[in-house]
Amino acid sequence: MSTWANLGLQDSASPLMEQLIFFHDHALLILVMITVLVGYLMFMLFFNSYINRFLLHGQLIEMIWTILPAIILLFIALPSLRLLYLLDEINEPSVTLKSIGHQWYWSYEYSDFNNVEFDSYMIPTNELENDGFRLLDVDNRIVLPMNSQIRILVTAADVIHSWTIPALGVKVDGTPGRLNQTNFFINRPGLFYGQCSEICGANHSFMPIVIESVPVNNFIKWISNNVN
Ligand code: CUA
Repeated sequence: MSTWANLGLQDSASPLMEQLIFFHDHALLILVMITVLVGYLMFMLFFNSYINRFLLHGQLIEMIWTILPAIILLFIALPSLRLLYLLDEINEPSVTLKSIGHQWYWSYEYSDFNNVEFDSYMIPTNELENDGFRLLDVDNRIVLPMNSQIRILVTAADVIHSWTIPALGVKVDGTPGRLNQTNFFINRPGLFYGQCSEICGANHSFMPIVIESVPVNNFIKWISNNVN
């Protein structure tokens, strides 16, 4: 999860988020180089004394500053396209979790295991434990196995919500009447926090998501305790 004064991205807990961070840094580097160059040129304009009376056009420089930006854009567009298709790739998932957005909580279904299902509400501030995170902790966490491909199906029951976990690089809209799909692979145990990121109503800020990533045998134990 994010902590105080963290302006960058959260540490990744999945290979896809790792790739997203690499792409972010790559795009930012190009952006900084362009900003510095354009900033320098604009600054130098202040000291231009317009001494060349016959300067009306320059074919060569105009060719260069037309084609060069197009080539620079390719260096962003191609890695971006690679990532886009990589994010959509689904690799024989071992668990499928269905998350349904409601005003204002999430409900989950493990359809692979005799349809284990539960609601997940935010814990109100006055009921919070001392080690709990305000506006972020929930009463029923999602338990998922680490080091496994996990498929997420997202939908909503009333208005559009968005199932978002920054550390896993996941952000999928839950739209009534549609079933969206994504996948991820958690490569460490721990708790991963997320929030709804579509403006879904007055209590939009109060429908967080918590994933408890555990070793596979712990997951099997948990699911067999909860199966009907
Ligand atoms: Cu649900 Cu915002």
